[in-house]
Amino acid sequence: MSQYTSTILVTGGTLGLGFWAAYELACNFPNSKIIISARSDKENAVDRLDELVQKRNSSPSNRKERQIGFRPLDLSSTSKVRKFVEDFAAQGYPPVSSLVLNAGVQFHEGKEVTLSSDGVEMTFAVNHLGHALLLYLLKPHMTTDARIVFVASGVHDPAQKTGLPDAKYETAELLAHPTDKNGYEVNQGGFQRYSSSKLVNVLFIYALEERLKKAREAGRSNWTVCAMDPGLMPGTGLAREMGPVVMWLVTHILTRMLWLLKLAIRSQNVHLPQNSGKNLAFLASKKGPDAMQSSGQYFEGARAIDSSVDSHNKMKQEDLWRWTVDFLAKDGEEKERFENF
Ligand SMILES: NC(=O)c1ccc[n+]([C@@H]2O[C@H](COP(=O)([O-])OP(=O)(O)OC[C@H]3O[C@@H](n4cnc5c(N)ncnc54)[C@H](OP(=O)(O)O)[C@@H]3O)[C@@H](O)[C@H]2O)c1
Repeated sequence: MSQYTSTILVTGGTLGLGFWAAYELACNFPNSKIIISARSDKENAVDRLDELVQKRNSSPSNRKERQIGFRPLDLSSTSKVRKFVEDFAAQGYPPVSSLVLNAGVQFHEGKEVTLSSDGVEMTFAVNHLGHALLLYLLKPHMTTDARIVFVASGVHDPAQKTGLPDAKYETAELLAHPTDKNGYEVNQGGFQRYSSSKLVNVLFIYALEERLKKAREAGRSNWTVCAMDPGLMPGTGLAREMGPVVMWLVTHILTRMLWLLKLAIRSQNVHLPQNSGKNLAFLASKKGPDAMQSSGQYFEGARAIDSSVDSHNKMKQEDLWRWTVDFLAKDGEEKERFENF
């Protein structure tokens, strides 16, 4: 039996924002097991996190079981997400009290559409579909007041004029299976697919909140959900598709010149991942009335703000929810289970 009372799962917890959120959560919740996931842990994030946490707590933990663990997860493949949940359940971790759905990918502008092993456009597959399946399948392993946070982005909102192409949502099917015929492959480069996937994150939390509200009112669960824009964070791995030169410039120059970046993009919403990680951990650990009151909200950092006009479109929210359940459920029983919270 685990020495911990609950589990906090952070997808994409090996790098960037997820790493720093996991760090804050581990420091602030010493009784929680922290599981970070990604396709691999090449840079040994678990050991680095352990070291940082012990330094901040200024005493080594005397528990036999390590607080932070890694489990491999590839969100681009539905069969691998299913395998992850099976393995996760077999580990005997305590129930999940916070689910931080943070992992994300971005492809650069000139890149052709990449398809996942399920034949779905890769940005949509990783940033949305894998997370949705993870959430549906983890349901039986979560506490009754579990908190869910989706990491979205200000780029979902054309009114924010972030410099990325406007997000575009007509139907989930068109985002999942772009072809020349439907115009998406021709018109949408990697950046627009990314903006659109972040709009999908926000549409999805609103559709989920509709279900969670009913479940809370019926006394079935007290789950809450929110979405967060961490702001522009130079120095994370998100730009890695753009090649080593861009990555070097961003990591070594821009992280030291946040003021310049703020001036250039005319926004104060630029942060180091350490700072955004704190905000993400703060939102992920809300419980009780505070969590209920902020359920279904969109945050910029730790501040609730309004999301884009398009994200409030109920038809789009429901189209996304239905398509997602239909695509992911392997039979009628699962469909009903995924649909009803
Ligand atoms: N950086 C920014 O300026 C910015 C701004 C707004 C929002 N965001 C959002 O913040 C979140 C975190 O981004 P970041 O900047 O911290 O990126 P990052 O440094 O590139 O970290 C991404 C994490 O996701 C994991 N990941 C990537 N593909 C995956 C897959 N197929 N399955 C499972 N895990 C996968 C990565 O590990 P592996 O590659 O080893 O799997 C890594 O741990 C994303 O949702 C992003 O959209 C970022």
